[in-house]
Amino acid sequence: MTDHVKTECDAGILTVTLSRADKKNALTNAMYGALADALGRAESDPAIRVVLLQGEGDSFTAGNDLSDFSAQSRGEHQGERHVLRFLNALASATRPLVAAVQGNAVGVGTTMLLHCDLVYVADSARLSTPFVNLALVPEAASSLLMPARIGYARAFAMFALGEVIDGAGAAALGLANAVVPSAELHARARAAAVALSRRPLGALAATKRLMRDAAVIGGQMDREGVIFQERLKSAEAREAFAAFAERRQPDFSKLAG
Ligand code: COA
Repeated sequence: MTDHVKTECDAGILTVTLSRADKKNALTNAMYGALADALGRAESDPAIRVVLLQGEGDSFTAGNDLSDFSAQSRGEHQGERHVLRFLNALASATRPLVAAVQGNAVGVGTTMLLHCDLVYVADSARLSTPFVNLALVPEAASSLLMPARIGYARAFAMFALGEVIDGAGAAALGLANAVVPSAELHARARAAAVALSRRPLGALAATKRLMRDAAVIGGQMDREGVIFQERLKSAEAREAFAAFAERRQPDFSKLAG
């Protein structure tokens, strides 16, 4: 159980709100569990027709909690890793997913958007996937979906150089449907969710199935997951997490790889 993810169901829309603003909505294992549960509920509850994902505060999410990564890197994490449940639920969701993104959307904060069907970003949005800076590799099938969406060169710059895409850039590249003033973000995303909630659910689900090959996406996630786990335990990753905790630049120069 966590208070850091709030859910509310109203008029066929399940609104899922990340609520850990003091940590930029960084995602803990418990939060992934709550997100996976919410998506599972959306699949099984006929009253839910659309899921709306949003975050409190000035950031959508700063991605995976880096202290959790650090603990996993040292082999200290025990129990189920709910992130896998969450990623699988995202990839297999039959309900349309709408996202409202303000401020930072780091790592999975951006890669989860590739699984959403409509994405609205505020002009404050800053999308980034700095996996290589953290000595990690892309996840959530983003190694497949990101180059397919924005082209190899831009995707590689995001993954390897940590290139940040702003709100206007996200809309121009097709990572988002529209960029809107921050004050209008939640209303705009909500209006899109309401519009979807009035569409025939069977036709929406069938359209998603045609547009997204769940088996291919799941297979890529599995391949990424194996390498991600290896990289997470590397000396490079331990250096990257220590540097974040100590608020310094990492030094990879003496590490062989
Ligand atoms: N995991 C854990 N804590 C995080 C976090 C994360 N991913 N991102 C931010 N936080 C915490 C900070 O440690 C800080 O905590 P503190 O107030 O107790 O010191 C708080 O959230 C605010 O973050 P701060 O860095 O001071 O905010 P900022 O506005 O200067 O920068 C970010 C925001 C998102 C750019 C920056 O926090 C960042 O780069 N975070 C790491 C993102 C990341 O690499 N995620 C993993 C991707 S795979």
